[in-house]
Formats: sequence, C-alpha cells, structure tokens
Amino acid sequence: MVEYYDNDFSFEEHQLEMEGKLQSMPSTSETAEQDTIDDDEHVKLHPNTQAQCWDGFHTSHSTGNFFKPRRYIMKCFPCILDHCATEDSTRMGRPKRLVLEVGCGSGSSCLPILRNCAENTIILACDCSAKAVDVCKSVVQSSTDAKNFGAFVSDPSLESDESDTSFAQDVKRAHGQLMEETPTTIDDAVGLADIVLMVFVLSAVPPKRVPRFMKQIFDATKCGGKVCFRDYALYDLPMMRFKETHSVHSTCSDADGRTPRLYERGDGTLSRFFSLDTIRDIFESSGFIMEELRYATVFNDNRKTGERLKRAFVHAVFRKPQD
Ligand SMILES: C[S@@+](CC[C@H](N)C(=O)[O-])C[C@H]1O[C@@H](n2cnc3c(N)ncnc32)[C@H](O)[C@@H]1O
Repeated sequence: MVEYYDNDFSFEEHQLEMEGKLQSMPSTSETAEQDTIDDDEHVKLHPNTQAQCWDGFHTSHSTGNFFKPRRYIMKCFPCILDHCATEDSTRMGRPKRLVLEVGCGSGSSCLPILRNCAENTIILACDCSAKAVDVCKSVVQSSTDAKNFGAFVSDPSLESDESDTSFAQDVKRAHGQLMEETPTTIDDAVGLADIVLMVFVLSAVPPKRVPRFMKQIFDATKCGGKVCFRDYALYDLPMMRFKETHSVHSTCSDADGRTPRLYERGDGTLSRFFSLDTIRDIFESSGFIMEELRYATVFNDNRKTGERLKRAFVHAVFRKPQD
C-alpha cells in the first residue's frame, strides 16, 4: 500500500500568506463584474446545466492519460478498510456491506476501494453525468473483477419536482439490480449505504442546492453509517489561480458570513473552496455527527518545472446517528 502524508505544511501560515496576496490584487469592482447565480442556479457564463457541463468535461477527458486512480483513498479513510476489508463470519447470512460513491467521475476513487474490499462488500457509484457513469463502468470492467460493482446516473441535488424518484430510491433500485433481487417497491427506500464517499463532488454543487443534496445523502446513509469526505480547501492552488472574472456570486453564505468562494471553469463546471467551519455547518445542519475534520496539506512537486505546489484540502468523516 502507498504511504500517504497530508500534513506537509501549516494551513494557518499558508492562509496568512494567501490572504496577503489576495489583498494586494485589484478588487472585483476594479476588474470585471462578477457573475451571479440566479434563482434557478443557472450560471450566467454558461447556459447548460451542471450535468451537461460535466458530460462535456468527461467527453473530452475520457481518453489518454487523464485517468489516475486515487491510491491514497484507502490510507486517508482507514474506516473503509476497517469496515469492508475482512470477511466477517458474524455477518454470514447478513446483507453485503454497501459503499456508495456520489459523483464518481471516471472511477478514480472507487477503483482502489473495489480492489481492496472483500467479497462481502458491494460498491455502487453514481454521477449526475451519464458520460461519467459510462467511463467509470468501462474503467472498472477493464481493470478488475466487476461483479460486486454497479454504476448509475443520479443527482441528489434535484428537488422532488425535478426527478421522479428520490436519491435513496435510485440507490435501492441499483442495489436490487446488482443483488439480482426480485424487484420490490422502492417507495419505502431507507438508507442502505454503510459508507458514502464524497470526494471532490460537493465543490461542484451550486450552493443553493447543497441543503437538498445533503438531505438526500443523509436519507441514503444507513443509521450509524459514515460519510468520507474530501474536497478543496480555501486557498488551495486552483482557487488562487482562478481569475476574478471566473468568480461566481451566490446568494448563499459560508460559515464566516461571506459569499461562498465559488468559481466557474471555462467549460461551465463549478468549483467551490471550503473552510472547516463551512463543512461542519453543512453536515451538522443535515443531521450528521462529526468524527474527523481537518485541513490536509500536500506538496505536489512538478517534475517538469521543478516547482513545489501547495495543495490544501478539507478532510472529514461524519456519522449518521443511530436513529
Ligand atoms: C471533480 S469530479 C470528482 C470525481 C471523483 N469523485 C474523483 O475522485 O475523481 C466531480 C464529479 O462530480 C459529479 N457531480 C457534480 N455534481 C453532481 C451532482 N449534483 N450529483 C452527482 N454527481 C455530481 C461530476 O459529474 C463529476 O464527475
């Protein structure tokens, strides 16, 4: 297993340095007018929905060397291994454990899990982009025995009037198909997932849709189940590289009362940068209990330029209470 360190530098010192840099830049009003997410959460710069924008992204990144498995996933979330790596005789006759990845993209995170988990674990991966689900399925099928794996299209941020089924129902249906169970009613869908993986997905959800997204994640999680979370932190390198013209103003606010640090890439996909307090607020107001929450800071060395790049992430584990 690869060694993984995620405390390469002090986040607090980095924050001070980056705030100094931001203050020395011209303010938004001196550069360009900011874009505002309107009430429908459609971003002005791009007419497509987020699912369409991510379809475009996955279409142009489905070939070549883009795919890189996140081998560190098992290291930074040991609870996945604790939960799923061993065949446990006390579980004989009980349902298989379920790991659910939301926003699976091309499968970078779920593939290492599939390779490390035992027979009694199944992995379901979903994404709002149908193209991502296709790519993820073919990556998994070509790399490992995919018999304990299923992938489906679903978007937990959709309101009940935007989708015929709830997210928990989509999970239940995909689970039933994989287990080859006779279809039963999906109306009473209860949380099935022992572990939910959210890796670089919340940053892509328009802030106004986050409460709905989190409610549906909560409903899809088993009581006592855990959410393993990793996403971009404030002052991460891509945030510092975004031009002010890509900054999107949302009507929501972060824990510090400021507008979310939200940017739109050229292809219309969104990228939000979080503080620990904002992540704690988002999860706790959805009913989860915090188990782990910290900044992960990592040096990425660029071999070509010799540059040392500073990456900053929010790492967290939250638990759904037992009833
Ligand atoms: C930055 S990629 C991360 C992919 C993957 N988790 C990984 O670790 O590489 C974000 C993914 O989240 C998906 N996504 C964005 N918003 C979503 C939503 N509301 N529901 C489900 N998936 C979403 C995108 O289509 C994209 O594949």
